[in-house]
Amino acid sequence: MNKRVLLGVSAGIAAYKTPDLVRKLGELGAEVQVILSKNADQFVAPLSLQAVSGHAVHSHAMTAESESGMGHIDLARWADIVLIAPATANIIARLCQGNADELLTTVCVATEAPIAVAPAMNQQMWQNAASKTNMSTLASRGVHILGPDAGEQACGEVGLGRMLQPADIAARVGGLFQNTSLTGKRVMITAGPTWEALDPVRGITNHSSGMMGYALAQAAIEAGAEVTLVTGPTHITPPSRAETVNVISALDMHAAVMNSIDQQDIFIGVAAVADYRPIDTAAEKIKKNAEQMTITMVKNPDILADVANLQKPPFCVGFAAETNDVVDYARGKLERKKLDLIAANHVGGSETGFGTPDNAITLISQNDVIELPKQNKSALARILIAEIAKAYTKI
Ligand code: PMT
Repeated sequence: MNKRVLLGVSAGIAAYKTPDLVRKLGELGAEVQVILSKNADQFVAPLSLQAVSGHAVHSHAMTAESESGMGHIDLARWADIVLIAPATANIIARLCQGNADELLTTVCVATEAPIAVAPAMNQQMWQNAASKTNMSTLASRGVHILGPDAGEQACGEVGLGRMLQPADIAARVGGLFQNTSLTGKRVMITAGPTWEALDPVRGITNHSSGMMGYALAQAAIEAGAEVTLVTGPTHITPPSRAETVNVISALDMHAAVMNSIDQQDIFIGVAAVADYRPIDTAAEKIKKNAEQMTITMVKNPDILADVANLQKPPFCVGFAAETNDVVDYARGKLERKKLDLIAANHVGGSETGFGTPDNAITLISQNDVIELPKQNKSALARILIAEIAKAYTKI
């Protein structure tokens, strides 16, 4: 499966099966690193897990020493998936609450990767109302629930609650990565704002955080694409496996895009590119001598339109940020800029659009309109990439 699995082992009797789980994941081609939750080392020897995974095992504690190596943020970024097996009732409850009280739970809060849990607990605990509510909370957040199995339990009782067998868990994790919709494709994404300098310390920009574009880059990588991310200045970290080109102004972004657009299969313009730039940039800081100041602006090139007008354009997806008549204006841009798809979002409110964790999109093509309701930008990006891949393969 050629993926990085971060295996979190919580303190349940089924933890003794995790060396076998690591081997089964390895047989499917996964690279595995292990984090032990508090007390999990009472049920499985860290040395066994180190031997089968080929990596030092991370303990539950977040110490200065552990953070100076591969700390919680590095681990959160490293993972293609965080798999918790066995997942006890306790760790499931703490995941629901978003606790960050030890390394494993902190990584779960910090990661953008999908999370899967393989519950393992006594059958009465599994049927407990709190456990049921917790499981549906996790499922509603998109956490993959693997199992549990029914049968005889370590305590002698019989019922639902046993952890699935390692081979079964490994196969199901492999199945989650069957998303090969963009394998072998090259995708270029623009993201973030541009900065149009007035003088060495001031400029004209906007509130784009880069979140939507970076989430699309991550989702395209998960779908197997080779991604080039051309990004304006942001305060967030780009996906580690994107080739990232940092730019400042619209002119820089235009040049960076044109530099390798002929190698791309798909172009997605998510950046909030300034339509105009000051005609001159002062070499020195502008002094406040005058009561009024007039800035003459000149139009920037339209990067998306230039890409769509190439002789052999890639499949072109635009974004439309509108404050009113969202779908009508977006349709206009789809026609005018000769795009294959346009993702229209309502901006100007406080819940979606610029700088918010969530977004809602109306995806418009010549023949279709698909409503994607408000949700986290990462989840939305996965759906958008799936729709883009579908539309791309139709042409
Ligand atoms: O970064 P976030 O905080 O997560 O916010 C995400 C977002 C709201 C910025 C994003 O979802 C979005 O809507 N991006 C497009 C913003 C925009 O500039 O829209 P527009 O309607 O002005 O431009 C239409 C399209 O033309 C866009 O694809 C834009 O990238 C492209 N364009 C615009 C002007 C220009 N000179 N060159 C361009 O390529």
